[in-house]
Amino acid sequence: MAPNTPYPHLLSPLDLGFTTLPNRVLMGSMHVGLEEAEHGFARMAAFYAERARGGVGLIVTGGIAPNEAGRPWDGGAKLTTPEEAAEHRLITDAVHAEGGRIAMQILHFGRYAYHEGLVAPSALKAPISPFVPNELTDSEVEQTIEDYARCAELAREAGYDGVEVMGSEGYLINEFIAAATNRRTDRWGGSYENRTRFPREIVRRIRERVGEDFIVVYRLSMLDLVPGGSTLDEVVALAKEIEAAGATIINTGIGWHEARIPTIATSVPRGAYTWVTKRLMGAVSVPLVTGNRVNTPEVAEQVLAEGRADMVSMARPFLADPEFVAKAAAGRAETINTCIGCNQACLDHTFSMKITSCLVNPRACHETELVLSPTRLAKRIAVVGAGPAGLACAVSAAERGHTITLFDAGAEIGGQLNVARRVPGKEEFDETLRYFRVQLAERGVDVRLNTYVTADDLAEYDEVVVATGVTPRVPAIEGVGHPSVVGYLDVLRDGVPVGERVAVLGAGGIGFDVAEFLTDGGEGASRDPETYFRQWGVDTTYAAAGGLRTPERPRPPRQVHLLQRKTTKVGAGLGKTTGWIHRTELKHRGVTMVAGVTYDRIDDAGLHLTVDGEQQVLPVDTVVLCTGQEPRRDLYEALTAAGRTAHLIGGADIAAELDAKRAIDQGTRLAAAL
Ligand SMILES: Cc1cc2nc3c(=O)[nH]c(=O)nc-3n(C[C@H](O)[C@H](O)[C@H](O)COP(=O)(O)OP(=O)(O)OC[C@H]3O[C@@H](n4cnc5c(N)ncnc54)[C@H](O)[C@@H]3O)c2cc1C
Ligand SMILES: Cc1cc2nc3c(=O)[nH]c(=O)nc-3n(C[C@H](O)[C@H](O)[C@H](O)COP(=O)(O)O)c2cc1C
Ligand code: SF4
Repeated sequence: MAPNTPYPHLLSPLDLGFTTLPNRVLMGSMHVGLEEAEHGFARMAAFYAERARGGVGLIVTGGIAPNEAGRPWDGGAKLTTPEEAAEHRLITDAVHAEGGRIAMQILHFGRYAYHEGLVAPSALKAPISPFVPNELTDSEVEQTIEDYARCAELAREAGYDGVEVMGSEGYLINEFIAAATNRRTDRWGGSYENRTRFPREIVRRIRERVGEDFIVVYRLSMLDLVPGGSTLDEVVALAKEIEAAGATIINTGIGWHEARIPTIATSVPRGAYTWVTKRLMGAVSVPLVTGNRVNTPEVAEQVLAEGRADMVSMARPFLADPEFVAKAAAGRAETINTCIGCNQACLDHTFSMKITSCLVNPRACHETELVLSPTRLAKRIAVVGAGPAGLACAVSAAERGHTITLFDAGAEIGGQLNVARRVPGKEEFDETLRYFRVQLAERGVDVRLNTYVTADDLAEYDEVVVATGVTPRVPAIEGVGHPSVVGYLDVLRDGVPVGERVAVLGAGGIGFDVAEFLTDGGEGASRDPETYFRQWGVDTTYAAAGGLRTPERPRPPRQVHLLQRKTTKVGAGLGKTTGWIHRTELKHRGVTMVAGVTYDRIDDAGLHLTVDGEQQVLPVDTVVLCTGQEPRRDLYEALTAAGRTAHLIGGADIAAELDAKRAIDQGTRLAAAL
């Protein structure tokens, strides 16, 4: 164990026999979109090198396909030729130059591939895909195994220290293993032994090809969370077989993509799924890696200290902060920019074919173009508004050497994040606020709270940045002044009393948050794994295949109607990878969600509305307005009127509800240019 550190388990080396990793931290695999982008390899080299410099023990790249059919989409990254391998040299050289180690993940998308040439053990369409896969013939299965082995060999040629075989999350290998997706009657289907022949052969033949001194990680689906998934006994048996086949390390995979239980969202308690890996500890002698929502060194240390795993994987935390390990090792964990599990700039981007980044760290995957270099001309800069836009701008500009004064009318920094953090499941925003608080202090920003700023106060500054945020929009509805009507700030920030029957007007992100806040049973599920699993139907005794059980939810304290004027599906504008979670949550809580509503009037009888041409009255006690926001530009307009130029960022520039991502990105980019 590493002595003299709060993280003795996390920072202790891991001996793999032929090589020793410096600590127990694995940077989990993330396909970031640079794999297919122009100059993507140079950009990935910079991205991974920064993480290697930050001290991570072993990096695993995003998934790379071993053949055409295994690509995520037409044009998706593959490694099938020496020419393609040569491109990867940029990455491996850059990582090695920083003293790091890197393994390449081999990922065959199977029936999740988004192209016509997709393949699977059986011709069964995935519920989340429009395509029916082609069933692999026996010789095609053989060829696919050969493709995996050749891919690993090419990865070695490219300079990687190892490969990770992606065997979980419902991709091709998982599809062979689960009876639900494998209906074959040949030697690749039927018995569990037959269904697991494919992964066993892949690992065995990879080991044959790459030799003994090459890391082979196998990512094992330890908890499928789908009906017809593996049992615990089957998972343990496969782990042993995979070890025997030649794996160096076994990593944990949780939940298929088509599973309807959240596994990585912010509402998942930290480290909640590490119990699964613990069930395998002792069953094999190779190191086991656990992960999912481990986002602080404290949680990682605790997981290891409790013997839940030998090593911890963190994927998104390395988007949020490349220096995670170095900061922990230096005893400066409070300076870590913590991943809040929002998925807004990472997984949502992946699923929209955009390059991954990070809400709290817009430099992630943009290392070569968003550079905060020291300024040659230090200026005195006033930043007005300490919401995420102003905070990002202030700390980044200070980092460059400017002298910053940051004003806010409120008593604390954070702007609307102070409201967001009160929504159950959004507690992680506290970490963002802590991060900025520490950064402001470390970078010597002069913070002036409780200070409402007017144009006259800003004469002495070289530059003025206006980050004054938004004001809630009040719709023109007859009776909007009725005492039953309140705003979302009244409810979330000021704690005004709310009745038992409620209409929430506006089903954007804030409307959903308010509905969740008002129907929350107070069980604190996002902080307590037991409660979380009970509510979502995960069986931690692992008695049934797939680890599922019937969800149990508390009675919600209120009856809520979530309404919107738009005729689109309620919640259509929410995050691509998290919207379904919010919709499911509210459905479980009996919230009625109605689109295409016209609000007629509000009076003592309640909310009068028209839906599908039919007038009705909702006899509610409280109406909560979540009907959008307007940019707050009074200061900007006063400055402009006085002939001063100012920079407008964040919600004050474009008011767009849940938009801390744009606010932080814009603030950081402005700081890079000032
Ligand atoms: C309930 C809720 C949940 C949310 N959840 C999410 C989420 O999950 N993801 C996401 O991306 N976004 C979320 N948001 C939205 C996010 O908080 C905003 O997009 C973001 O805060 C906008 O940042 P900003 O810096 O532009 O403005 P703000 O955060 O609004 O900050 C503006 C600041 O300027 C100050 N100010 C204004 N005028 C003056 C003046 N003249 N002098 C001094 N100070 C002044 C204000 O006091 C305020 O602190 C949520 C918002 C709410 C309300
Ligand atoms: C943008 C993004 C891309 C991902 N791509 C892959 C991938 O290519 N292969 C893989 O096995 N997992 C992939 N994952 C899943 C991560 O490896 C990890 O399991 C997940 O993010 C949960 O861990 P975390 O909470 O530490 O981020 C991806 C995750 C994200 C956020
Ligand atoms: S975008 Fe959100 S979830 Fe993704 S890495 Fe950043 S903070 Fe974490």
